[in-house]
Parts: sequence; structure tokens; C-alpha cells
Amino acid sequence: MPWYGSHSFLNEYIRENSSRRIMEIGILNGDNAKSMVEIATQNVPPDNVEYYGFDLFADYSSRQVEQKLEKTGCKFKLFEGDTVRTLSKAVKILPKMDLIFIDGGKSFAEAESDWENSKTLMHDGTAVFVHNYEFSGVHRMVDNIPRDKYQVRIIHSSSEGEIALIGKRRNHPRA
Ligand SMILES: C[S@@+](CC[C@H](N)C(=O)[O-])C[C@H]1O[C@@H](n2cnc3c(N)ncnc32)[C@H](O)[C@@H]1O
Repeated sequence: MPWYGSHSFLNEYIRENSSRRIMEIGILNGDNAKSMVEIATQNVPPDNVEYYGFDLFADYSSRQVEQKLEKTGCKFKLFEGDTVRTLSKAVKILPKMDLIFIDGGKSFAEAESDWENSKTLMHDGTAVFVHNYEFSGVHRMVDNIPRDKYQVRIIHSSSEGEIALIGKRRNHPRA
């Protein structure tokens, strides 16, 4: 199943940028969480790697995901419930992230809420990856992102579908 579990575009980014604070919206079974953390620990000591994950935990329990993450030695926190509610509350206390992976609810309302909350946790170098750009609700959310504030690149992958990569646009003061 190439669309679940480990994603090469995330692993490559984490490896190349020594990402250590990682947030994932939509965890499913935690295989991708574990994979991202394991890649991060190749550059950073495990107890300096932080993972923050959000899910309904309807198909897999938070305990199942915890057991996978405990083995990595990273610091992690899982948030259970609908991100429209849980993420909007959590962003008030969470630190800025190095990488955010938006892969939760695919409706426009969910995707938009996830982006609006996630963007408050971006520092100048944060990469936000959005899975399933080809889904209509996700597509609409991404297309609404103001290009004067954010750089948006669509990555086409035969095995992963379409992924949006979003970063803050840096303002270059005129000389
Ligand atoms: C595509 S799966 C995530 C896959 C995972 N990121 C990976 O790469 O293996 C989507 C997940 O989002 C969760 N989800 C869907 N809507 C959600 C919502 N409104 N709030 C929280 N989690 C949600 C589902 O429970 C499911 O586990």
C-alpha cells in the first residue's frame, strides 16, 4: 500500500533539513509517524526529536500508535478527536514546527481548518506538506492560499498522487 505508511517525500525532506519538530494531522496506524521520527533521529538525538500527532483514533487506538513511538525514544504527544476542535485548541500551546504533514479529513471544511491552524505554527523555514491535492476539498483549500504570502508547489508522484508543499514567502527588502 504505497499511500499509507512511509512517504519518501517526507523522509527525504526530514533527512536533508535535519527536521526535529514534526506535526502530523491524520496518523492512522502510526507507521508514517514512526518512519518520520526514525529518519529524524539519524541527524538529531532521539530525545531532541518531537512528534505531535492528531487523529480521531477510530480505526487504530492511540495506544497502538504510542507503542510504536515509544520504541523510537522521541518526545511525543497525541491529540484525540476532530482536529476542527483539537487542533485549534492545541496551537495555542504548541511550539513552531519544522515540518507539518496535513493528511486528515479531506473535506474543504476540515482541510481549511487544518491549514488555518497549522499556519500559525510555521516559522520562516517550516515546510507544510498537504496530501491528496487531487481531492476536491483539499484542492480548493490549497488554491485559496494567498501566493503573495506563501510559496506553493505541487509535487506529482506516480505512487503518492499529488502533494502540495507550502512555505512562507520571504520578503526581500529592496536595496
Ligand atoms: C489518510 S489517513 C492518514 C495516513 C497517515 N498520515 C499516513 O501517512 O500513514 C487519514 C487519517 O485522518 C484521520 N481523520 C480524518 N478526519 C479527521 C478529523 N476531522 N480529525 C482528526 N482526524 C481525522 C482518520 O482517522 C485517519 O486516520
